[in-house]
Amino acid sequence: MLVRPRRLRKSQVVREMVAETRLSKDMFIYPYFVVPGKGITKEIISMPGINHFSADKLVEDVEKGLNLGLNKIMLFGVGEEKSEDAHTAYHEHSLVADTVRLLKSRFGDDLYIVTDVCVCSYTTHGHCGILKDDYVQNDETVELISKMALSHAQAGADMLAPSDMMDGRIEAIRNKLDNSGLVNTAIMSHATKFASAYYGPFRDAADCAPGKGDRKAYQMDFRNGNEAVREALLDEEQGADVLMVKPALAYMDIIHKLKLNTDLPIACYNVSGEYSMIKAAAKNGWIDEQKVVMETMHAFARAGASIITTYHIRDILQNKWL
Ligand code: PBG
Ligand code: ZN
Repeated sequence: MLVRPRRLRKSQVVREMVAETRLSKDMFIYPYFVVPGKGITKEIISMPGINHFSADKLVEDVEKGLNLGLNKIMLFGVGEEKSEDAHTAYHEHSLVADTVRLLKSRFGDDLYIVTDVCVCSYTTHGHCGILKDDYVQNDETVELISKMALSHAQAGADMLAPSDMMDGRIEAIRNKLDNSGLVNTAIMSHATKFASAYYGPFRDAADCAPGKGDRKAYQMDFRNGNEAVREALLDEEQGADVLMVKPALAYMDIIHKLKLNTDLPIACYNVSGEYSMIKAAAKNGWIDEQKVVMETMHAFARAGASIITTYHIRDILQNKWL
């Protein structure tokens, strides 16, 4: 007997009925870049539609987002004074900490704030840690990262997203938070973050490109899938609440692998280069932006991500593509 799977594709109604993957606005996190100063809204050239905001303007934009149903953001600090030891990263009144306080005083628990925890925007050399003899020192960096995490948590961040890829940082951050009574601050580990060329536009945006060398001695080798599972499970053991895969598009297999190996929620980070490629092609009329974006988002969910961090979500909600 001829099997006819096409029966269930016959009309829109039946296709909707059998759809295996459905998106909801609740899955999405929108990244923001905050800069020092006042009254600043400046588009990032390499990421059309994404801006550098000063905190006052950020609040206005977040409010617009909230009205669209966008209630989860990831915050990156850019433009603070840089140093060898990145002390501006963990100051009680750092740019990010003060912005978190401002947002929380304004929106409270209506807004869920995730902060990026990494020092590359705060170091003179642009590496994600303490550099000695051209090598990023693991344990010293973990100390530094933990202090940064604590300062964000004390300011009221709901969730911390360490993106440095040092060994043992999740346990160190968890301990530091717990010892300060911040038992409800969650950790979304960039569990498997690959050394990727897809971060290109972001490095301009966050002014965090390494001055010398690359990040291959701490971020993962993109040839390795088993190691990704191992990394993720280590972070789970250390107390991570959510495991993130980054980048996303070229790493769908990793999303799927983690899904099969853990019961924690899996997040993916649809990074700057992935975003800008779509934007550029759409601008040239080579692809249909709405269709390509929505196909991509469904693919992340189908692979196993229940949380999607993406620069596209603002367009998606604004244009009612969901
Ligand atoms: C830095 C950091 C990077 C991204 C997020 N945090 C870049 C890097 O590791 O070089 C990339 C995000 C994006 O490309 O959208 N720790
Ligand atoms: Zn970094």
